Amino acid sequence: MRNLLEIDDLSSLELLEVLDRSEQSDLSAVLAGQGAMLLFEKPSSRTRTSMEMAVVQLGGHPVTLRSEEIGIDTRESAEDLGRLFSGYGSIIGARVFEHHKLQRLAATSTVPVINLLSDEAHPVQALADLLTIRQAFGGFDDLTVAYVGDANNVAKSLGLACGLVGIEFRVSHPQGYGFDTATIDQFKQVGASLSLIDDPYQAVAGAQVVYTDAWYSMGQEDEQQIRTQAFAAWQVNAQLMSVAATNAIFLHCLPAHRNDEVSDEVLDGAQSRVWPQAWNRMHTARGLMHWLLTEGGA
Ligand code: CP
Ligand code: NVA
Repeated sequence: MRNLLEIDDLSSLELLEVLDRSEQSDLSAVLAGQGAMLLFEKPSSRTRTSMEMAVVQLGGHPVTLRSEEIGIDTRESAEDLGRLFSGYGSIIGARVFEHHKLQRLAATSTVPVINLLSDEAHPVQALADLLTIRQAFGGFDDLTVAYVGDANNVAKSLGLACGLVGIEFRVSHPQGYGFDTATIDQFKQVGASLSLIDDPYQAVAGAQVVYTDAWYSMGQEDEQQIRTQAFAAWQVNAQLMSVAATNAIFLHCLPAHRNDEVSDEVLDGAQSRVWPQAWNRMHTARGLMHWLLTEGGA
């Protein structure tokens, strides 16, 4: 049985297999008559709805619970919730503040556990990101992704995903907002081509994909003012996009803080692929769960 707590829980070949399945329209109803337990400690629009729809498309029934109802580690431990919910559902998904809660839930679960976002990782987002890139360029060869902004959970999973499929990954962020050394080591372990570049213009120069995410993530709202000042020169706007490759696309996991990390003209512009990217969340959720419940679960 396999879990997806971070994208490098999959090998390169497995990742490509999940992407292929995500584009198949005739997947078997592996969840027929079964449930998927989806736990959320933080708000969600895309992740919750794309997972729920994907469960339905696989013949199953989603059961979504918010943290105030279940209280991970307050009302009941993550370990006990893993034991409990694996008796009801064939899959468990959880969005948590601290990554260790997912690890502890997975340790006692007897069904696959999917990370629906933690402080450290957002692997289901990275699946949709890769599928969107593949659909735009027909493959992963000779591509560079430039991530401009906070080196956060989304950036980490995206960078590892790029490493797994051989995409060059550049990151540009203000001082003090970079990856920790454990994350840099993790990039090395997947053989990622990672460049840390101070100047956002140098990072974006010639890149085929320009990506950004919120300057302050869920739970960091009290840092909004200080981060907004620190990141001001890292906004993705038309001027920055003008140095990317002529066929470059713009991606953002959403929700966007319009005219903070990305200007309206870029988010709504011709190079933006943010809506197909968001819709791909459902297709990749379906492909992932199908894989986990067949090959991945074997
Ligand atoms: N991108 C993403 O995970 O969006 P939600 O927070 O709305 O689920
Ligand atoms: N980095 C953001 C992503 C939201 C989908 C967060 O963790 O809030």
